[in-house]
Amino acid sequence: MNIKKEIFGQCPRGEKAFLFTLVNPNGITVKITNYGAIITAIEMADKKGKKENIALGFRTLEEYLSADYLANYPYFGAVCGRYCNRIAGGKLNIDGVDYRLFINNGPNHLHGGQAGFDKMIWTPKTIDMPDFVGLELKYRSVHLEENYPGNLDVTILYKLTHKNELHIEYKAVTDRTTVVNLTNHTYFNLNGGEENILNHQLLINSKKRTVTDSNLIPTGEIADVTNTPFDFSTTKSVGADIGLLPDGYDLNYPLGNADKKMVFAGKLSEEETGRSVSVFTNEPGLQIYTGYYIPSLGERFGRYSGFALETQHYPDSPNHPEFPSTELKPGDVYKSKTTYLFETTK
Ligand code: BGC
Repeated sequence: MNIKKEIFGQCPRGEKAFLFTLVNPNGITVKITNYGAIITAIEMADKKGKKENIALGFRTLEEYLSADYLANYPYFGAVCGRYCNRIAGGKLNIDGVDYRLFINNGPNHLHGGQAGFDKMIWTPKTIDMPDFVGLELKYRSVHLEENYPGNLDVTILYKLTHKNELHIEYKAVTDRTTVVNLTNHTYFNLNGGEENILNHQLLINSKKRTVTDSNLIPTGEIADVTNTPFDFSTTKSVGADIGLLPDGYDLNYPLGNADKKMVFAGKLSEEETGRSVSVFTNEPGLQIYTGYYIPSLGERFGRYSGFALETQHYPDSPNHPEFPSTELKPGDVYKSKTTYLFETTK
């Protein structure tokens, strides 16, 4: 196992960003920058031994900061917070006090606002253990940053194990009641970006979805997906029914783990290369997004070029008391865990 640190670039405010390369004994490589806690690349072999990058991302910080990329920003590989996904109308009420959050997605607040956790510089610490290499990232989101109440101290631990798992462990504490919902927004393309993700196979460990309005805000209804295009409870190609949906898939599947135990959430696989990624989490939901709005940048990326499997609480939970709560109180510890398991069939 080893871990390498190099300079990734300089942020507009003058801070330096680093790139950390984590390698395990089987040759799986995960690259992470402390700018936005972004996973910039995941390299793994296909069934013929060919190593390729299976995560959408860039080689330089400049590309993450470029106007072209940010104009139609898809959050490649980033940690989204303080509240990932949407909050309807940007309206948050905590203990009877109203907070107005930045509107950046139609009429709604998305992924923490104008400058969410995906644009922050995190304090890094590398960890080298016998069975994993890790990167710890810390960030203090101050009281009323993006108008969220409470100083929030967040720690993320990325661990790449010798069993080809990438664990992402999040912790957060606050000094006032607030809301927290964190996810990693990696888009996978298991054939190294050679074609789009419509031929990938998908399995989801849920038969339910949260129904949303036209702005992707949950109505409160939780529907059965049987015999609908949303049914991936047995393995089906991503493209099989996508033509029935105007913008592809972008929805939350409840995982039924109210007790916060780790559960299998789903598996994305690709037959030509034999590669797959399975996702496990203690979060109550899995948002899938097929990247309809991913911008084309030069010859790269574009519609359906990547598939995001985002573990998280349901969208707009602060305005849905019937959903699992995203509230964090002083003295409590927010703990969230996601595991990606990378496998190659022969
Ligand atoms: C959301 C999509 C959004 C994408 C990029 C996903 O988490 O579900 O609606 O377009 O993030 O912001």
